[in-house]
Amino acid sequence: MQLGSISFDSPLLLAPMSSICTAPYRLLMEELGCGGTVSELVSCHGINYKNEKTHKMLDIHKREKNIGLQLFGEDKEAMAKAAITAQERNPKFIDINMGCPVRKVVSKGGGSALLKDPTVLGDFFSTIKKAIEVPLTIKIRTGWDSDSINAPEVAHIAKEEGVEFVAIHGRTRTQAYKGKADWELLEDVAKEGILPMIGNGDLHTAATTRNRMNNTNCDALMLGRGPLRNPFIFLESYLKEDDDIFFSPQDHLEVIERFKTYMEEYTDRERTILITLRKNIVWMAAGYPGVAQFRNAMFTTPDLDGTMEVACEFFHNLGNMPKRIDHSKDFMAGGHG
Ligand SMILES: Cc1cc2nc3c(=O)[nH]c(=O)nc-3n(C[C@H](O)[C@H](O)[C@H](O)COP(=O)(O)O)c2cc1C
Repeated sequence: MQLGSISFDSPLLLAPMSSICTAPYRLLMEELGCGGTVSELVSCHGINYKNEKTHKMLDIHKREKNIGLQLFGEDKEAMAKAAITAQERNPKFIDINMGCPVRKVVSKGGGSALLKDPTVLGDFFSTIKKAIEVPLTIKIRTGWDSDSINAPEVAHIAKEEGVEFVAIHGRTRTQAYKGKADWELLEDVAKEGILPMIGNGDLHTAATTRNRMNNTNCDALMLGRGPLRNPFIFLESYLKEDDDIFFSPQDHLEVIERFKTYMEEYTDRERTILITLRKNIVWMAAGYPGVAQFRNAMFTTPDLDGTMEVACEFFHNLGNMPKRIDHSKDFMAGGHG
């Protein structure tokens, strides 16, 4: 699958998520059927100040294939400089975060604040684009608020400056994560065919994703929160409705064990591994009975071995129980894009 000059393994991509989409999780998702990934947002200033923690965020696993590194910042020169550094890590593309609604980012002019004044965007894009050899891409929201929907205008400017594709989260900045992603608007923008376009927002189940994939004007789709609770969502989305394939609690446990290995390859900081695993395991347990108790047990174990023991016991005891996630309640209604 091709978006501009960038090739992906399939049109279902993993959305960037801060503190989640580090190399181990991205690799895991690529192996579980997603066509490509984007890193969490990384501060251009942190990169330029040579902050060690920020540079760690640029790590790419040698087996990752279709990975973009996402940068955020308000200053075109600082972004260009950081993009040159990020490019040394050999990503397939560099992505600009233009969707983050968080005050700390927006108040400095980064993230979705970049949507507020499109007149400066041509220069912003071209300065970054000229600095790098890998393709440049953007991820935006539909606009700042419902009175200033300008995704098509931003896409036009991006196209003029040679940006390769646009990913659009179908909400405005003021909406944050409230309400529903506006797919009617996303489909209208995609129909215009300004730039290769990725639609994003609220594709929480395989059925919704499959249905959208079969009927969309978008060139690709991006999933964020869905895969956190269902790591098999990419694989399931490609199945036909009546395909009889079932991912069991045992399969979840295998995914968890593989994720642990990748985390151990990524860092030797046991605390980071522990915190990351616990939170992901609890998300993956969503939809099975006894999750609240399981969560308590997980968070009271002292170490990684204890955490894995509790997880093994929980998933083993479920036998062949099917998963029933309650999608009527909000899940992770906050993030950086
Ligand atoms: C916890 C969390 C962190 C996020 N971090 C980022 C980020 O770093 N960069 C970005 O562009 N979007 C970020 N987002 C937004 C997602 O990429 C996506 O646009 C949004 O969650 C809607 O898609 P979904 O409904 O499939 O989750 C984040 C979302 C969440 C929930």
